[in-house]
Amino acid sequence: MIEKTFIIVKPDGVCKRLIGKVLERLETAGFKIVGMKMIRLNQKTAEDFYSNHRGKFFFEPYVEFMISAPIIVCVIEGENAVAAVRKIIGNTDSKKAEKGTLRNEYGFNDRRNIIHASDSAATAKTEMEYFFKASELFVYSDDDWKEKVK
Ligand code: PPS
Repeated sequence: MIEKTFIIVKPDGVCKRLIGKVLERLETAGFKIVGMKMIRLNQKTAEDFYSNHRGKFFFEPYVEFMISAPIIVCVIEGENAVAAVRKIIGNTDSKKAEKGTLRNEYGFNDRRNIIHASDSAATAKTEMEYFFKASELFVYSDDDWKEKVK
């Protein structure tokens, strides 16, 4: 099933100059980038976007981390994108992330873990709609796409 998921290259990924590597990994795995922006969250937006984590012990330092530098927000499309992208990025805690995953290769811990990816189709929809209007996503037909890559 073709579906969309949402990812963030977090401040550590951007500052370590890993944007290209992260996106290359996803594109090489067959996914299409159908929306992308570089933005800088502020305190209010970060607290709002992560409001589901409010009250957890890591909430404040996590918000501080997420506003510390620009981030890349992307909508990714492909076969079983939600589960498949989660598999490519690995465990939340980089130190426990499976070998070959992005977090295993480039992450540092459970906060500085390079990349976020939505954990369900419902979360993906909410998260992508937070940052993108429908008109900002690239809509294509497979025939169109094939024509463009000739
Ligand atoms: S939890 O523990 O069930 O809330 O974990 P999860 O739903 O996987 O989301 C965790 C997100 O919070 C970030 N974060 C941390 N997680 C655990 N421990 C610490 N100390 C911590 N600090 C930050 C973690 O990177 C997850 O971020 P996202 O953006 O969802 O990947």
